[in-house]
Amino acid sequence: MTVFDTTLRDGEQTPGIAFTFEQKIDIARQLSDIGVHTIEAGFPASSAPEKETVAAIKRLGLSANICGLARSVKADVDACIDCDVDMIHVFIPTSDIQRENTINKTREQVLGITGDIVRYVRDHVDKCMFSPMDATRTDADYLVEVCRTAAAAGATIINIPDTVGVISPSGMKTLMGRLAREVGCPLDVHCHNDFGLAVANTIAAVEAGASEVQVTVNGLGERAGNADLAQTVMIMESIYGIRTGITKERLVETSRLISRFSGIGIPPTQPVVGENVFSHESGIHTQGVLKCSETFEPGIMTPEMVGHRRRLTLGKHVGRHAVRQMLIDVHIEPGDAELDTIVERVKAIASRGKRVTDADLYEIAESVMGIAVGKKVLRLEDIAIMTGNHVIPTASVRAQVNGTEHVFSSVGNGPVDAALKAIVGIIPARIQLTEFNIEAISGGSDAMCHVTIAVEDEHGRIYDASGSGDDIVLASVDALVNAINLTSRE
Ligand code: KIV
Ligand code: ZN
Repeated sequence: MTVFDTTLRDGEQTPGIAFTFEQKIDIARQLSDIGVHTIEAGFPASSAPEKETVAAIKRLGLSANICGLARSVKADVDACIDCDVDMIHVFIPTSDIQRENTINKTREQVLGITGDIVRYVRDHVDKCMFSPMDATRTDADYLVEVCRTAAAAGATIINIPDTVGVISPSGMKTLMGRLAREVGCPLDVHCHNDFGLAVANTIAAVEAGASEVQVTVNGLGERAGNADLAQTVMIMESIYGIRTGITKERLVETSRLISRFSGIGIPPTQPVVGENVFSHESGIHTQGVLKCSETFEPGIMTPEMVGHRRRLTLGKHVGRHAVRQMLIDVHIEPGDAELDTIVERVKAIASRGKRVTDADLYEIAESVMGIAVGKKVLRLEDIAIMTGNHVIPTASVRAQVNGTEHVFSSVGNGPVDAALKAIVGIIPARIQLTEFNIEAISGGSDAMCHVTIAVEDEHGRIYDASGSGDDIVLASVDALVNAINLTSRE
């Protein structure tokens, strides 16, 4: 099974997303490094910068094939040829509704254009993907005719797009099964997620004979997006035993990279890569998982397989086992009565709807047990931040790190980003920010805010802490300093 990724093309059509040139280069490298077979790098005819980007991605010499998208017109194909791509993906609307309302051509004219454009592509480039756009709303007999025409003209693969995400898995299976029997060309599938069925429909197409799947990282794409790469890959690998060639251990890292570049956060409940996928809170679950992780996890998909982490979290359902384990992990060993009091206090805070962070837990334990607060590696002395409409946000920090004074500066996308980068830069340990949440506690421009931050240390352990105040930057800084000081607890 091969994986065709269109994060840089359909993914970038997500409302509000525009990747920079540098981000596109990084995304292409990441996709190729994790084993994506073909990268749809863009739509060269759409603009001069887009064309230059596709050409630059091709020049990287990545192991993935680089594909350019083209409408079924020679000028679009020529723009792809100029980029020296390995594959050209030509498409034409075939459903009556799209054919009549977009290109205003008859069914016969579309058949003629299909044959001509595929032949033109093959005269210049080895690989030609042909897409009958809106295939799932196209009259099925006519769809077979169009696909056969493309195959006879030399298409090397035919993509079946569910352009507006309306087919069901059983409908997809019937359609793909027929095309697989009657067309005589390798098939690929491109599903949109308007009804939340993109991944299920993609898998149904695979069951019916598709040999390639089109996906995007984090399911980005037009409207509700496309089939998600991580989910599609893990379903094929873990449930169906189909090899995809993707380095699964880098799925979480890839998802986070695209989340950062796109500015679209990963919902905690997002399958495979979401923060909650391997998190356990309730007493019954954590007790089971602590004994044997498969008790309340799929087992055929472990956190290690996808580059994730298992976490016990604190909430109103938390049990004694989880709390004891979380404290033992940082060398705090409460007695039975102390543990009962700690659990009671955690539940009381969580029941008020407040998140209980690791920092809160350690503080509660220390007060219940009457033990000293752990040594702090990082003591912030000064922080100065400069921002404005004509300056690059810059932060300078002076802090005691393990008792010695250090100074560090950093620029960022905004004042918070600059401040957090300066703090991460001042400490010797390599930590990664894995979560940043901000909520306004009261209304108005002078609202109090509450920031929760999670960081991952070099050993893959995650710690969360919070900070509050009426200054967003300082509350964020506070939360990060608190989290960093947890990572040094030994
Ligand atoms: O959704 C769609 O039909 C497309 C085509 C260009 C393949 O994105
Ligand atoms: Zn699409």
